[in-house]
Amino acid sequence: MTNMGKGFYISKAVGIVGIILGAGALATIIALSVVYSQEKAKNNVNPSPTDEGPTIRPTVTTPAPSNEPWDKYRLPTSLVPESYNVLLRPYLTPDETTELYIFTGNSTVEFVCVEETDLILIHSHKLNYSKLEDGKLATLISLNTAVKAPSIQSTMIQKVTQYLVIHLDGKLVKGQRYQLFTAFTGELADDLGGFYRSVYDEGGVKRVVATTQMQPTHARKAFPCFDEPAMKAVFNITLIHDIGTVALSNGEEKESSNININGKNLRRTVFEPTPKMSTYLLAFIISDFDFINNTIDNVLIRIFARKTAIAAGQGDYALNKTGPILNFFEKYYNSSYPLPKSDQIALPDFNAGAMENWGLITYRETALLYDEAYSSSSNKERIATIIAHELAHMWFGNLVTLRWWNDLWLNEGFASYVEYLGANEAEPDWNVTDLIVLSDVHRVFAVDALTSSHPLSSKEEDVQTPAQISELFDAISYSKGAAVLRMLSDFLTEAVFTKGLQAVNGTGTTLPDTVEKIMNTWVLQMGFPVITINTATGFVSQKHFLLDSSSNVTAESPYNYEWIVPIKWMKTGVTQTPEWLREKSATINAMKATEADWVLANLNVVGYYRVNYDTGNWNRLLSVLSTNHQLIPVINRAQLVDDAFNLARAQIIPTVLALNVTKYLINEREYMPWQSTLNNLDFFYLMFDRTKVYGPMQDYLRNQVTNLFRYYENITENWNKIPDGHMDQYNEVNAISLACRTGLDDCLTLAQTQFKQWMDSDINQIHPNLRSTIYCNAIAGGGAEEWEFAWKKFLNATIAIEADKLRSALACTKQPWLLNRYLEYTLNANMIRKQDATSTIVYIANNVVGQPLAWDFVRYGGGSFSFANLINGVTKRFSSQFELEQLEQFKKDNADVGFGSGTMAVDQSIERTIANIKWVKENEQHVLDWFKAETKSK
Ligand SMILES: *[C@@H]1O[C@H](CO)[C@@H](O)[C@H](O)[C@H]1NC(C)=O
Ligand SMILES: *[C@@H]1O[C@H](CO)[C@@H](O)[C@H](O)[C@H]1NC(C)=O
Ligand SMILES: *[C@@H]1O[C@H](CO)[C@@H](O)[C@H](O)[C@H]1NC(C)=O
Ligand SMILES: *[C@@H]1O[C@H](CO)[C@@H](O)[C@H](O)[C@H]1NC(C)=O
Ligand SMILES: *[C@@H]1O[C@H](CO)[C@@H](O)[C@H](O)[C@H]1NC(C)=O
Ligand SMILES: *[C@@H]1O[C@H](CO)[C@@H](O)[C@H](O)[C@H]1NC(C)=O
Ligand SMILES: [Zn+2]
Repeated sequence: MTNMGKGFYISKAVGIVGIILGAGALATIIALSVVYSQEKAKNNVNPSPTDEGPTIRPTVTTPAPSNEPWDKYRLPTSLVPESYNVLLRPYLTPDETTELYIFTGNSTVEFVCVEETDLILIHSHKLNYSKLEDGKLATLISLNTAVKAPSIQSTMIQKVTQYLVIHLDGKLVKGQRYQLFTAFTGELADDLGGFYRSVYDEGGVKRVVATTQMQPTHARKAFPCFDEPAMKAVFNITLIHDIGTVALSNGEEKESSNININGKNLRRTVFEPTPKMSTYLLAFIISDFDFINNTIDNVLIRIFARKTAIAAGQGDYALNKTGPILNFFEKYYNSSYPLPKSDQIALPDFNAGAMENWGLITYRETALLYDEAYSSSSNKERIATIIAHELAHMWFGNLVTLRWWNDLWLNEGFASYVEYLGANEAEPDWNVTDLIVLSDVHRVFAVDALTSSHPLSSKEEDVQTPAQISELFDAISYSKGAAVLRMLSDFLTEAVFTKGLQAVNGTGTTLPDTVEKIMNTWVLQMGFPVITINTATGFVSQKHFLLDSSSNVTAESPYNYEWIVPIKWMKTGVTQTPEWLREKSATINAMKATEADWVLANLNVVGYYRVNYDTGNWNRLLSVLSTNHQLIPVINRAQLVDDAFNLARAQIIPTVLALNVTKYLINEREYMPWQSTLNNLDFFYLMFDRTKVYGPMQDYLRNQVTNLFRYYENITENWNKIPDGHMDQYNEVNAISLACRTGLDDCLTLAQTQFKQWMDSDINQIHPNLRSTIYCNAIAGGGAEEWEFAWKKFLNATIAIEADKLRSALACTKQPWLLNRYLEYTLNANMIRKQDATSTIVYIANNVVGQPLAWDFVRYGGGSFSFANLINGVTKRFSSQFELEQLEQFKKDNADVGFGSGTMAVDQSIERTIANIKWVKENEQHVLDWFKAETKSK
């Protein structure tokens, strides 16, 4: 278990259980911790500390050594918390005089002094402390009667670094335990962080839920705490709440009784002490929700939601799938679920998709609640995968925790990879594991091909402030993390991956290097390579793939932007022995091919790279696609499209070659290649929907998609049935979306007819799978009447999944005044929930008419521009010098306030705009000529 300690903190009590279960227990984690610790040694100045559990962390000194300890973002190492008693009382009605929603509380933290000090620093944010009997803001006692605690000299709040600073008039003694008590008040704001309130309407009555989101640094907003992940402790939680409401926390309810406080009858619920855990995993919730439950292997599983949602059976799917997924992970980790209960709760207001609080997972409603009458197959898939993702964290992340946020990618990348394995267990018919290629690999390629990308692993000293920590929750950490771990798992084989890397050391003969060395090239440098295979000579080379070939990489790499690349490949449909590329280039004789043969590399896109070929091989691949495309595995058909379009954007191959790949689609029926095409066409639409290319492009695409549209029209008996296969259902939606987008008359009629039926009868007979696209196209083709109808339905929707479909469709209208009004609604939380404001603005920006309106709204609206997604979203279409200047001006104008966690996004947007301008200039004419020629010949 030494590896465990290197970089990972395992809670002692539970850790022992893990060890007793046998050497194989938690093997995956060990495996990853090997990678992690080895990488750590390279990347970090500070050697990894002890294997003792959550005790000591190396000191991180911020640049200016003259700074006082309370000016540093990291806690000093002198005090280590052991346990807390936290009592909280949220008020679900506003204070009569201030009209604010508040909570009150008191807390005792018991800590050990490991280095003599006369200073206590404890995180605290936006809390007001009450004066205690002696007039001080805190009380300190010693737990050893022989050692007297020093008295408190002064206390202050350090706002920037978020500390309660306590100066003592004497030293705390090394090895002694102390308790610090405080009483405080905080605002139960609607700000989605810390202890916050969520509001919803049930039966015309406004209801308030008090709930939490602690990750990454919001626990300090609920009570004073040592708010760093390695500062694990036991938490004894007590909640005071109104009679009739339900109190939940990480632990099981221990006792609940009525109490009377100042003449008011209330309920006091005490929870079992938690295992040793990080502050960011705490959760407290007061609601009047209902639940459904089940018990599997002695684990109590409960799904909580609004009463009407539970009554409508919307928690059933989650309850059905949680047990099997938990069982799957127990087998996968070879370790039983670490807690006695698993609660999952759907909240009306929630910023992320879900949060893995230990034993009490919180979700957005759309990520947990399923209703056959409203949910599409993609909604259902999202629920299954998010549940799997969060449950995976119950072991990896919660039981075993990263020492500091700089390695967040390992936590999130791992969960983002195994969520597919868990979901595949829950829904074995879906082939959901294939979809990681579209949802993660291709998605993150787009970001990781920019010079403004960053390596998976960050240096500890570069991640200090809450904003720097938040910025790590990005596509690189999640999707690249998942892609790279999937690649590791593939070249090790899944069996070895789950057994742990020790096993590999013995059987490592098939690997060209140690796992550590291979993985370092993927983890410690940003980006990924394009592998070029010349099949005429067998010459294979790699090069850092940059979307803009002329951009300069200023960030240095320890590996000089070379990778150790596993290559699985086939020749003329026959799978060959895998190869490795360890150098900048090599001749691999096996990859030589004659005129009769074709080579296809990166089978099933398990490798995190793109592939290019000599023209001869590209032509042979095009010919296979057009004559017998099934010879190429379906995932690789999606890859050929995505690689070709992106190689063209990087000017490595001509754009017409990429367009030529799309010609075979007239015969393609599978989802993945079509989805890959639609993803890439998005860029064409963004660049050309305001130019003369638009018309001929529409003509070509309409012609390409018509077969697919007819095919689905036929197998669904004129849109009256849904196809059987999960991916076929997705592709039906693609067929309709593209057919309508390109103006195929039958499609537009279909959308308008179905929507009109709903408007006329007030009975919605549109299948949930088709709703998003039908709504959007009907609203785009309609006017104020359609819009108002949908808006009313949005306001009255009883399931968030339906509301979301309407909310995105409302952005499809072509009427500028409706779009402008809609933008204004995003400022009013009674109309658009705060959690949805950003995505609504981005939806509007996706619409060619809405784009300039959304940009002005963001530029001049103020306030909300600190979101990375928002900035990326509204500037996606930028491709003119004028727009670039506006963007640069925007950056300049806001330089003083800064963009917080959106800083990187602004630079990425500028870089993208520059690349777009260049691309359009170089490609517009060729693309126009190609589309014209293709449509003329028909
Ligand atoms: C929390 O509860 C545990 C177990 O009952 C106890 O040992 C510990 O002292 C408590 N913590 C505090 C701060 O009272
Ligand atoms: C903490 O607050 C609760 C509720 O107001 C109160 O009953 C309790 O006595 C307080 N704890 C301490 C140690 O003062
Ligand atoms: C579900 O909860 C109810 C009420 O708490 C309890 O009586 C019942 O035994 C539970 N059922 C299962 C299967 O856990
Ligand atoms: C949940 O499982 C039950 C029992 O297998 C089944 O009848 C029900 O249809 C399932 N519900 C959902 C929404 O999957
Ligand atoms: C792997 O094997 C090598 C050589 O046999 C040995 O030096 C090294 O310590 C082993 N590594 C691990 C992690 O067991
Ligand atoms: C899932 O994959 C298997 C094997 O690759 C294939 O036979 C099956 O048709 C696929 N199912 C769906 C729904 O795509
Ligand atoms: Zn996660």
